[in-house]
This record gives sequence, structure tokens and C-alpha cells, in this order.
Amino acid sequence: MHTSVLLHEAVDSLHVVPNGRYVDATFGVGGHSRLIAEQGAKVLALEWDSHIVKLYADGLRNLGIALVEANYANIAQIAKEKNFVPCDGILFDLGLSMVQIRESGRGFSYEKDEEPLDMRLNNELRVSAADIIASYSKDQLYEIFTKHAEELSAGTIVEYIVRARTLKRIQTVGDLKVAMGEHSNVQTLARIFQALRMEVNNEFRNITLALKGSFEILKTGGRIAVITFHPGEDRLVKRELALIGFKEVHKKPIKGSYKKKFRTFSKVKNCRKINL
Ligand SMILES: C[S@@+](CC[C@H](N)C(=O)[O-])C[C@H]1O[C@@H](n2cnc3c(N)ncnc32)[C@H](O)[C@@H]1O
Repeated sequence: MHTSVLLHEAVDSLHVVPNGRYVDATFGVGGHSRLIAEQGAKVLALEWDSHIVKLYADGLRNLGIALVEANYANIAQIAKEKNFVPCDGILFDLGLSMVQIRESGRGFSYEKDEEPLDMRLNNELRVSAADIIASYSKDQLYEIFTKHAEELSAGTIVEYIVRARTLKRIQTVGDLKVAMGEHSNVQTLARIFQALRMEVNNEFRNITLALKGSFEILKTGGRIAVITFHPGEDRLVKRELALIGFKEVHKKPIKGSYKKKFRTFSKVKNCRKINL
């Protein structure tokens, strides 16, 4: 079961108006979408994981939620195709849901040794986590472990992985843990798994494109709320939204459980023009 994080805080910050249009860019199990819809607004929900869309697609229409299988990087295009512009608010709850981590069978959790090291959110993605482990150079692996997860032992872990992969392909969660040797403690595993997942799914690139697209479809005065999970993500979101021309509503981010926090930004009238 997934418990929606910062549910009321994030939805309240959007100042939902009845009949308004809201995009939930990360549907998950739909906690935020449902709460917005209960307040009398229309919701266009995006979700990239086709397994999740199949699970939830039926039974949402009556609630005023239209769920679409899509990458949020294409948020502007989808919202235009669905005649959902301009919209009043947009919500991002970045990362994965507990359902995906615990039940997807795609190796998102370091606790399931037998699962394949896949980590692809969508079937269109060609490169799995195992492919990355097998084919990236030392420098590339070092870069993703430091950039996506700020892993201080990245150098040694890369050496261990590169040595282990000469002996056999690292295919499962358990194989990677064995390869990491004494570095396979819970905290380090969490960071390494996060870094691989972010690389497999191009998360930083998708977030950057999604924030730019959000500016295009949000009405002036509309709000965007972003729940982030780790510091790198939070810095990226804050920097991109400021560059695009959004104004932060609260100067301090609001913190919740599971290390998550959220920031709310508003599209103000006098924001400067940018190339989208
Ligand atoms: C933390 S969960 C969202 C939970 C949701 N707010 C709820 O209340 O259930 C994040 C969701 O975003 C989805 N996601 C990740 N990257 C995505 C992308 N590029 N486009 C659309 N959805 C994405 C994940 O598959 C996951 O279901």
C-alpha cells in the first residue's frame, strides 16, 4: 500500500477552485488526484508506468479524473491534446510509489535479491539498470552515483562493480549487492539504487522538460506544487523554476515524512519570457 505523502499540504497549497483544471503529473495510486477531484475540480492525471495505468484506468472517470499513460516531460503537448489549457494548477510528486517499490518485480528495491535489475518505468525505454551496469565506463558510473545520489564511496563501489562484471553479468538485485561487497549496507544500497533508477528513466531530463512545459500551460496566477525526495532533485526543481520565471510562494519548503518536502511556486504576470 502507498500512503500519499504531504497529501493535504500539497493539495491545499494549490488553492483548488471548483471546476478548475488541475494536472497531477505523477498519478501513482491517485491520492492527490482524488483529493483535488473531491474539491469539485477536473483532473488530468499523467502516469508513465503502464502497469499502474492498467490497474487504475477504469473507475476514475466518474470521479472527474482522466488518467493518461504519458511521460510528464510531454505535459504541455498532452494537456493541449486533451483541451486542458490553460490550467489552474499542477502537482508533481517525484519518485516512485510504495506499490512499485514493493510489488513491481522490476528491481526497484534492494530488498528483493531475486528480482532482475531492470528499473524501467515504461516499456518504451530500451536500457535497463543491468545494461547500464554492464556497459557504462568507470567514469560514467562514477558520475551517476555522485550526481544522482551524492554517494561518497562512489569511487570504490565503481571499482568493485567493474571487477565483478568481468567475472559474470550482474543481472539481479542480489548480484549487485554481492558485487558491492562491504558497501552493501542499507543506506548505500538505497543511494546506489536511486541513482540507477534515475539514470534508467532519465529523471533529471524529464523533470527539466516537465517544468518548462508546465509554464506553457499554467494560467497566470496558477500554482505549481512539487514534492521532492532528495536534495539533488530539490535543488534542480528550485533552480529550474526560478530560471523559468516562477515565483516561490513560501520561502521555506514544507517538510514531510519519508524525507520528502514540497515547494509551491506561482506563475506571476510579470515573469520574463523564456525560450521553451
Ligand atoms: C511518488 S509516486 C506518486 C504518488 C501519488 N501522488 C499518490 O498520491 O499516489 C510518483 C509516480 O510518478 C510516476 N512517474 C515517474 N516518472 C514519471 C514520468 N516521467 N512521467 C509520468 N509519471 C512518472 C511513477 O511511476 C509513480 O507512480
